[in-house]
Amino acid sequence: MEPPVTETQVAIIGAGPAGLMLSHLLQREGIASVILESRSRAYVQQRVRAGVLEQGTVDLLDELGLSERLHREGLVHHGLLLTLDERRYRIALTELTGGRALTIYGQQEVVKDLIAARLAGGGEIQFEVEDVQLEALETEHPRVRYRQQGTARELRCAFIAGCDGFHGVSRPAIPPGVLTTYERHYPFAWLGILAAVAPSTEELIYARHARGFALHSLRSPEISRLYIQVDRTEELGDWSDDRIWNELRLRLAADGFTLRDGPVLEKSIALHHSFVVEPMQHGRLFLAGDAAHIVPPTGAKGLNLAVADVRVLARAIERWYRAGHTEDLERYSERCLGRVWRVQEFSASMSALLHRLPGTDPFEDRVARARLEWICRSQAEARSLAENYVGLPWD
Ligand code: FAD
Ligand code: PHB
Repeated sequence: MEPPVTETQVAIIGAGPAGLMLSHLLQREGIASVILESRSRAYVQQRVRAGVLEQGTVDLLDELGLSERLHREGLVHHGLLLTLDERRYRIALTELTGGRALTIYGQQEVVKDLIAARLAGGGEIQFEVEDVQLEALETEHPRVRYRQQGTARELRCAFIAGCDGFHGVSRPAIPPGVLTTYERHYPFAWLGILAAVAPSTEELIYARHARGFALHSLRSPEISRLYIQVDRTEELGDWSDDRIWNELRLRLAADGFTLRDGPVLEKSIALHHSFVVEPMQHGRLFLAGDAAHIVPPTGAKGLNLAVADVRVLARAIERWYRAGHTEDLERYSERCLGRVWRVQEFSASMSALLHRLPGTDPFEDRVARARLEWICRSQAEARSLAENYVGLPWD
């Protein structure tokens, strides 16, 4: 028996930041979409990940009328603190970038807001779908076959947006030989915790320390987010809460600074990985966000890059529907990849600057320290870091 068929204009695979943002951008242009998500709504709303939103990401949420809670609860940041040898240096992000700022607001909060608004506006998100398969990508009528609660279904569309993250099915649906992959695995990971304690700092602290990198970030006046560098082979089970807090205390130490600790609400280990595929499209399938590229989290860029991709994609699809223009669709990869590689370079250089590996050649260690010191002393260097960190303007 043939499966029940539904039709839409754009099939979106994945309800992460990329997929959800795309559905909102398309809706604004009157273009219909259906999102297929393999996890439950509760799961995607609780997945703890990023927290730093660039000015451009916030501006886009403003434009779409999706930022009311973000402005109420988000924490606006005008600077960040770099630490070397227990001395803190402030990078005045806003001053150095002509007034741009960052907002700290958990990724899962963004996801909650986007899902609620999409469903309230009559949008369709199907959660807990299984066996998603993309077909007929090289035709004008691609299809997605999947199962929902055991029933086989088919979604017909004009375009498929692969927004299903690094482990999704969209990228592997592209035939062998089409994509070129560029990647680097780093020998370290971040152990991250979310803790029920007031942040011990008003601005993010990035610390380079002989014992390894540490980062103090924030989520709210009551919740802190902290990370330490660990070896990529470390097991979460070997890290008791006390051991994590002790390590954080050592690595974040500075004159007059006291780290408050508290109950750990969540902990996880994330490996560092840089990854890009070129092109980001094949036939009527367009990859966006982590499905096409991964950056190490040191530059706080993954979510912002995902949003930048779908902004380009939504415009290209809109121009195709409105005026039959194919040029923007054809140039989708090229447009996204300029930003992707800028951000890859920034994220890799922030990682190299701030992490210390056991057994590092002492010469390299001295060079990295000299570079960090120079960034803290030279306004030109600090401005370059600030421009990248707050995010490149849209084209
Ligand atoms: P995802 O968020 O991965 O969403 C993909 C969605 O697709 C998921 O909901 C998934 O369940 C779904 N899916 C997967 N497979 C299928 C399938 N077969 N069918 C249907 N659905 C499927 N970025 C920043 O910008 N700033 C930060 O501060 C930052 N910090 C980070 C800290 C950590 C510890 C980590 C791990 C990441 C961080 N990032 C940060 C990166 C950021 O979280 C990701 O880049 C972002 O989630 C990418 O969004 P996405 O929508 O492309 O992919
Ligand atoms: C976070 O708040 O989760 C965060 C902040 C800065 C980073 C990465 C993650 O570089």
